[in-house]
Amino acid sequence: MYTFNLNGKVVNVEEDKKLLEYLREDARLTSVKDGCSEGACGTCTILVDGKAMRACIFTISKVQGKSIITSEGLTEREKEVYTWAFAEAGAVQCGFCIPGMVISAKALLDNNLNPTRADVKNAIRGNICRCTGYVKIEDAILKAAAVFRGELEPKKVEFKGLVGENVHRVDAEAKTLGTGKYVDDMQVPGMIYGSALRTKYPRALVKNIDIAEAEKIPGVVAVLTAKDIPGNRYIGHIVKDWPALIAVGEETRYVGDSVALVAAETKEALKRALEAIAVDYEEREPLSTPEMALAEGAPKIHEKGNLLFEQVLKRGNADEAIKNSKYVVSHKYSVPFTEHAFMEPETCIGMPDGNGVILYTAGQNVFDEQHEVMELLGLTADKVRVISKYVGGGFGGKEDMSVQHHAALIAYVTKRPVKVSLSRKESIMIHPKRHAMEMEFTTACDENGILTAMKAVLISDTGAYASLGGPVLQRACTHAAGPYNYHNIDILGRAVYTNNPPGGAFRGFGVTQSAFAIECNINELAKLVGISQWEIRYRNAVEPGQVLPNGQIADAGTALKETLEAVKKDFESSPYAGIACAMKNAGIGVGLPDIGRSRLTIINRKVHVRCGAACIGQGMGTINAQMVCETTGISYDKIVVEAPDTAITPNSGTTTASRQTVFSGEATKQAALKLKEALKNSTLEELEGQDFYGEYSGITDPMGSDKPNPVSHVAYGYATQVVILDEKGVLQKVVAAHDVGKAINPINVEGQIEGGVVMGLGYGLTEDYPLINSVPTAKLGTLGLFRANQVPEIKPIIIEKNTEALAYGAKGVGEITCIPTAPAIQGAYYRLDGNFRTKLPLEDTFYKKKK
Ligand code: FES
Ligand code: FES
Repeated sequence: MYTFNLNGKVVNVEEDKKLLEYLREDARLTSVKDGCSEGACGTCTILVDGKAMRACIFTISKVQGKSIITSEGLTEREKEVYTWAFAEAGAVQCGFCIPGMVISAKALLDNNLNPTRADVKNAIRGNICRCTGYVKIEDAILKAAAVFRGELEPKKVEFKGLVGENVHRVDAEAKTLGTGKYVDDMQVPGMIYGSALRTKYPRALVKNIDIAEAEKIPGVVAVLTAKDIPGNRYIGHIVKDWPALIAVGEETRYVGDSVALVAAETKEALKRALEAIAVDYEEREPLSTPEMALAEGAPKIHEKGNLLFEQVLKRGNADEAIKNSKYVVSHKYSVPFTEHAFMEPETCIGMPDGNGVILYTAGQNVFDEQHEVMELLGLTADKVRVISKYVGGGFGGKEDMSVQHHAALIAYVTKRPVKVSLSRKESIMIHPKRHAMEMEFTTACDENGILTAMKAVLISDTGAYASLGGPVLQRACTHAAGPYNYHNIDILGRAVYTNNPPGGAFRGFGVTQSAFAIECNINELAKLVGISQWEIRYRNAVEPGQVLPNGQIADAGTALKETLEAVKKDFESSPYAGIACAMKNAGIGVGLPDIGRSRLTIINRKVHVRCGAACIGQGMGTINAQMVCETTGISYDKIVVEAPDTAITPNSGTTTASRQTVFSGEATKQAALKLKEALKNSTLEELEGQDFYGEYSGITDPMGSDKPNPVSHVAYGYATQVVILDEKGVLQKVVAAHDVGKAINPINVEGQIEGGVVMGLGYGLTEDYPLINSVPTAKLGTLGLFRANQVPEIKPIIIEKNTEALAYGAKGVGEITCIPTAPAIQGAYYRLDGNFRTKLPLEDTFYKKKK
């Protein structure tokens, strides 16, 4: 028997077990999150005798006689202050890290009510936040300190909810205090646990799977193999090439492949059963690089061969223009796979529902999940309902199926509710990554630095399965020339299957990679011409009415030059400043169907926003609420935002391509216009139960359109970032000016910028996802994620020029925020030491030594 004090009450626990498991599953204190169970993330932070500690590294016996406080145990005053401070500062995005941050803040403020920003950074250095870039979290903690000192008082603000107003997010309180539910916080009566046995080798023939011993283990409910799948075993976002379970006689394609599924009453029985499955493999040499996969006679990873997708883009005559140009630079660039490292590992709960299933998920579109599960189980849409809980970050990494299809299959076969979760190790190994690419870029300009032409070859390692490898490569190519006014381009892109973990969507969607190459080339051209990195960009920056390298005419809202002007002073303030520009599409575009849908329902004199758009941290619910308020004049407190649910909310497409503010925002605006019309003759009370539906369909031209100036995307965001180093190469400041069209919620936009910049700093300087013979070796703690105390000052600058009515002028900001950062760092180091680096993460820097 162990005795300790938990949130002010004495508790006795019979059995020694992991403290985190006890707190979450027995005491049901789910503000304490399990982000890694490895002591690396800080989402499980609790106070033990007044000190911030990680619950996952304790057992019950280690806290004998001690006093523990979790967010649930804060005083009412503390709850009020932290909730207000985090909401006011705009510090909450996906929210998964926030309760742990609050506890680290309490540990600091209980001892020091006058902390400096450095003290705050130090206090939260053990808490990783992948969304916010830490700045607003630090602001929130400093605000809370000011309240506790008596200098500030949380004010109850009556928000109007207008566009441009920094309203507190609709989910701020639930996420700050940890009362909001993520899937893993749910427990369902009669729930069992499910997990997949992964292949031992990235490439091996599966000759036999023996489940007999596993089935005999007490507590095992089912052991399923490929033959238990009633529908199509192969699923996938666009290309159906990804088997939910590998069949006997099939070759595995990467270490994340599943060969069997186990469902058991307890986690212990589950673990034993997974170990008891005997698989007979014939190990084969993995194809670990695109070069190996494209070699003459290479074994085929998929029946149709190892080339997933090829993109050729030509405009003008690049060869001729390069020949006639004064300056030409050519470099080979190499960028690695990157792990999303969202703080919430994947979890899904599957429940039987008559002849179908209900799933509780945390992905990037409930309808994508529904369609994949329908395919797998051979069911119609009415038999598969998917409901989203809070999503603890995604960044593109939760677009593919990871656990949803397995939970659905187990629930369907066993008729039991089941929870399927990935451990952090599995999460890192399994879900698709940002593509590694090898790129050769040649760029030319005249004697004045005016760009004349570019040629590029991009080879992307798309890993074992297609995922979004085709569209990612396409965006890498369509954006490869940068946001500049020149028209001779010749681009070849190839996405190649290998036995590495799949490449897929990741914030930037291919543009992060190609922007690094083009922007670095431009830095060298500037040096050859004898003008600054800023000047060469300003001379070439696309302006309204000019034609982008892809042929689209830049619209009147284009404000790239304004972003350059906004950073000029900072760029010129330091000899070690680097700069880069970027453009990024909002919306899927290129002639594909792209529709936002939203429905407003009046319930109890409140407007319920029912929109299928996933909030993966970016704040979509709040944006939708502001769209309603701005359009109708209804106040913010009368808006209720519902969670995506295939049975209730209309399909508003995937949270991808920086599209939701534009597409779902506009759809909500359209619905709100109808509500506004109805309100001319009725009160909200009189409209009880009525529905108002809105839709927006973005019309664009397909790739290869024969129009001289095709519209590839409904909108582009533009940006310029400056990175300033000191003479030792240490980051001093990042200035990030973003043309966002119109900021619906400016503090939220700043949070997107800061978070994206820090992700970009990681991409440029520290993050890697090494593979040895196609097997990933990184853990969460070794991925190279930036921590609060490493982050320099970040100055976000919002440029608003767009006057289009579409979504009140918003253009989407999610992805572009992390695109210019890495090449801006490269430019800064180039100025610092003259070393022109071509590989990410940059080598021989303060942050990474030369290998
Ligand atoms: S869950 Fe404890 S540190 Fe990550
Ligand atoms: S808000 Fe910190 S991890 Fe998402």
